[in-house]
Amino acid sequence: MNIGIIGAGTVAQTIARHVLPHGHKVMLSNTRGPESLAELVKQLGPGVSAGTPQQAADQDIVVLAVMWWHVQTALFSISDWKGRVLVDATNRVAGISPLSVGDLSGRTSSEIVSDLTPGARVVKAFNSVPMAWISDFTPSKPRTALFVSGDDGEAKKPVHDLIEEIGFTGVDLGSLAVGGRLQQLGGPLAGIRLNFVERFSL
Ligand SMILES: NC(=O)c1ccc[n+]([C@@H]2O[C@H](COP(=O)([O-])OP(=O)(O)OC[C@H]3O[C@@H](n4cnc5c(N)ncnc54)[C@H](OP(=O)(O)O)[C@@H]3O)[C@@H](O)[C@H]2O)c1
Repeated sequence: MNIGIIGAGTVAQTIARHVLPHGHKVMLSNTRGPESLAELVKQLGPGVSAGTPQQAADQDIVVLAVMWWHVQTALFSISDWKGRVLVDATNRVAGISPLSVGDLSGRTSSEIVSDLTPGARVVKAFNSVPMAWISDFTPSKPRTALFVSGDDGEAKKPVHDLIEEIGFTGVDLGSLAVGGRLQQLGGPLAGIRLNFVERFSL
């Protein structure tokens, strides 16, 4: 799969390091242009490239990995969202040091992302744990649960499959309204580390 990422920071690099060994390609992007990412692209190795946010959005799936206060600008920089699978890894934070949660009283943060991207097939994923908890890139890492929510089952499937393929346990929580609220920062399933060591099969 060709995975575009709007953002090139902690989340983008963590996802890249997990998917690259499985043969996926990653395109990172930021506001400073592809040249500013040359060193990082070199460090991450084969399979990684840098592009503009629009080029990242043109990949098979695109991950949104920018700070909440940059979400609107980042989303509005894409010409047309219709039909794109948009993986929302953001959290609605008001500040990062110290970490404080933004206003969660109305629509969920991923519903807001969906409102800003008409026609996009939004899937919330990779937001519910600090990246430091999933920064073991070896095949023997624990199968940490990563939650997935979305209103479009066909869009959720490749994201869920990718999560399983790279060695985590994908847990589908339902819609952006219900599951999104559970897994978004401030919700009851955010910041929960569930490592599956054994699974009972029927
Ligand atoms: N870090 C974690 O452990 C973690 C875990 C779960 C969820 N999250 C959430 O994931 C999101 C990203 O977090 P992060 O830690 O990866 O942030 P980060 O390290 O600060 O990276 C943010 C990236 O976004 C880029 N960016 C900013 N505005 C942009 C725009 N308009 N278009 C394209 N790129 C833009 C920045 O590049 P330039 O400034 O150079 O343009 C930077 O590369 C946040 O919403 C955060 O709450 C973080």
